[in-house]
Amino acid sequence: MIRASSVFASEDIGHLQRRILALARQMNAVIVSHNYQRPEVQDVADFVGDSLELARRCAQTEAEVIVFCGVSFMAENAVILNPSRQVLLAEGTAGCPMADMIDDVDLREWRERYPGAAVVAYVNTTAPVKAESDICCTSANAPRVVDSVLNDQVIFVPDENLAGWVARQTAKKIIPYPGFCITHRRLIPEQVRRARQLHPGAPVVVHPECLPEVADMADAVLSTSQMVRFCRESPADTLLIGTEMGLLHRLQKECPGKTFFVLSPGLVCPNMKRTRLEGVLRTMEERRNQVTVPEDVRVKAQQALERMLEVA
Ligand code: 13P
Ligand code: SF4
Repeated sequence: MIRASSVFASEDIGHLQRRILALARQMNAVIVSHNYQRPEVQDVADFVGDSLELARRCAQTEAEVIVFCGVSFMAENAVILNPSRQVLLAEGTAGCPMADMIDDVDLREWRERYPGAAVVAYVNTTAPVKAESDICCTSANAPRVVDSVLNDQVIFVPDENLAGWVARQTAKKIIPYPGFCITHRRLIPEQVRRARQLHPGAPVVVHPECLPEVADMADAVLSTSQMVRFCRESPADTLLIGTEMGLLHRLQKECPGKTFFVLSPGLVCPNMKRTRLEGVLRTMEERRNQVTVPEDVRVKAQQALERMLEVA
């Protein structure tokens, strides 16, 4: 178990952040960051949030350029929802292994196997997979989205753990695709048991990408930004967190005086951690890593994402 530690910006970090912010003004760019980014990257962003909040924010922005500090499927969401903007992925090699566990060919095969089922795609999917889906969901709205479809059967892709968590809350028959998050899977029940012994009474809050045995042990199963709200409102002064440890930076900023422990040292997403301030600056200076989606795919994926935004 790891105690969150404060991160102080060094002079170099401050200098890079000032250059990034000046360039953002010059380019009319908005910088958005997922909750798992490095602290100094989160601190330079105009907006930090979970997948749902980032999708909403990017759909609404008036800025000409969106600089996305996160992984590729999230930047694709920005392109899909706001195609007139230039979207730059701050770190071009940052992908999501879970999103890569299914492609559109796999999904079409599953559709043929279960012809009466609707397809709900977690946003952690590529644009072609979204384009083959009926509706998208995020960890913040998955049960509500599943209940919104008319079909009794739902193929849920690609996260089997999120699918299992949804299945326990809906009357619909969920057909899970066998994908998973390599990071959240590292948190095991024994680590939760040990943390509870060390901190009796401290609430355990985990992400639905965790193993079902872990989710069943938690006091709350929430998206990353829902966790921030839960911790802010909780009367507890110590909380045990089961998600990628980048979230602890936001938790400490928004809940001063509370103590957070991350439940496993394995809760680090290597892809989220690839983004560094130097890379953000270079990406902006060179306008590199522009994310594009073929228009026919984009239009179909947009329908699936917009249906989700209507439900949520
Ligand atoms: P959130 O939407 O809860 O921020 O999760 C995104 C993600 O990639 C979790 O691993
Ligand atoms: Fe993908 Fe897991 Fe990283 Fe989220 S934490 S971006 S699901 S690998």
